[in-house]
Amino acid sequence: MPIEMTVNGEPRRSLAEPMTPLIDVLRDEFHLTGAKPVCREGFCGACTVQLDGAPVLSCLTPAGLAEGHEIRTVEGLSAGGRLNPIQAKFAEHDAVQCGMCFPGMVVTLTHFLAHTPRPSRDEVQAALAGNACRCTGYERIVAAALDAAGA
Ligand code: FES
Ligand code: FES
Repeated sequence: MPIEMTVNGEPRRSLAEPMTPLIDVLRDEFHLTGAKPVCREGFCGACTVQLDGAPVLSCLTPAGLAEGHEIRTVEGLSAGGRLNPIQAKFAEHDAVQCGMCFPGMVVTLTHFLAHTPRPSRDEVQAALAGNACRCTGYERIVAAALDAAGA
């Protein structure tokens, strides 16, 4: 049975087994490579996508759970190839180095800032607790997120 879902506003159909990790369907079948399979164990957050608007780890989400639901990847968060405000603030604050964590950070922060438009520094840090970055030391990421909230 095909798995039917909506991805970035488009109806999509996967022939994968229901227990196939969603990230593999997104990357290998739908060629959406924004979400990154860094740890595949639920520790890093680089694979974060939105399922019905809420962030989920696509490495631990069986594709079958997406049946009938709306998936949004980082590719679906920017219109017409332009940076969305969070991406633009990351660039402005030089908050990206290797970039592996970046898509997951953007997906997580998009949901967080939509629900917490004027966050404190502590709230930003708590929101990003599940998104690891090995390069930047987090200071610039938090600054970019706080700036994006004010933008
Ligand atoms: S790849 Fe999913 S949490 Fe690290
Ligand atoms: S920029 Fe390299 S892991 Fe965050």
